[in-house]
Amino acid sequence: MDNVMKRYGDSEAIAREYFDSLTIEFRMIDAVNANTEYELFGETFKTPVMSAALSRLDQVREGGAVDTARGVKNAGAVMWTGIGSEEELEAQINTGAKVIKIIKPYADIDLIYRKIEHAEKSGAFAVGMDTDFVFGPKHNKGFALEFPVSPKTSGDLCGFIKATKLPFIFKGILSEYDAVRALELGAGGIVVSHHGGSVADYALPPLRILPRIAKIAGGKIPIFLDSAVTRGADVFKALALGANAVSVGKELIKGLSADGADGVRTLINDVTEELRWTMNVTGSMDLRSIDPAVIWDKTRS
Ligand SMILES: Cc1cc2nc3c(=O)[nH]c(=O)nc-3n(C[C@H](O)[C@H](O)[C@H](O)COP(=O)(O)O)c2cc1C
Repeated sequence: MDNVMKRYGDSEAIAREYFDSLTIEFRMIDAVNANTEYELFGETFKTPVMSAALSRLDQVREGGAVDTARGVKNAGAVMWTGIGSEEELEAQINTGAKVIKIIKPYADIDLIYRKIEHAEKSGAFAVGMDTDFVFGPKHNKGFALEFPVSPKTSGDLCGFIKATKLPFIFKGILSEYDAVRALELGAGGIVVSHHGGSVADYALPPLRILPRIAKIAGGKIPIFLDSAVTRGADVFKALALGANAVSVGKELIKGLSADGADGVRTLINDVTEELRWTMNVTGSMDLRSIDPAVIWDKTRS
């Protein structure tokens, strides 16, 4: 029955399938216990496993938005956050978490500028926009969009970048075309993502385009990845193929739902431990020494 009901072109399922199609060779001789320490914008974190830019977490569990920040901070990770009030962002930052605020491509341009200014004043770690959301969601999974969004020009985006001293991150880049433009405009980072599958069906798996986008960035700005990441082996594959760090969305919500801040911390710790294990068995002593050649796709001989 499940197969009959399956929605064709489900971007999430396609991304998941691509993760699972890649296998990993072992390099045991001279291998050491790996170090997962991660540096971003001058700060050091225990892990490159991050929360995704989530929102409405108080609907998952009372106090969920701030508990997520607490859990992410306690795991020594970078926190991302999406739609939410000024008070919610301030409370998340007040936990001591390093919070990257992703602002929606609201039709109201002044609102975007106000939110950028507020995030910077409140001590956000970085800001950005989910530029894949300019037409809203195709699959909103039960959430109604209560605000209008609209397409943004290069000029609009350039204005947002110039409005803040913080790195301005483009979230939802899924082509070399957009990656080149993001770089030209002065993006402070790129999230290779298809928004967990909610923007369009048949989306290219972020992991598949990742090496090309990482090549375009050439180490000048950090490259992040999200969508369909559930475990440390996924994070390893993304790091090997060019990501600097990786976000977990719906899987993290399961941790929050089960056990609040502790559930979030445990989830990030568990994913990090599988990442470390995979680094160990591939002779990757730290994040910089993961060799992309340990990843085998089906066509390699
Ligand atoms: C409940 C929920 C709320 C989200 N809210 C936002 C948001 O406000 N802004 C945003 O850029 N992305 C948002 N996302 C998308 C995530 O940042 C991320 O791209 C996606 O969840 C990654 O896929 P995954 O859930 O398969 O890990 C949300 C996702 C979920 C599940």
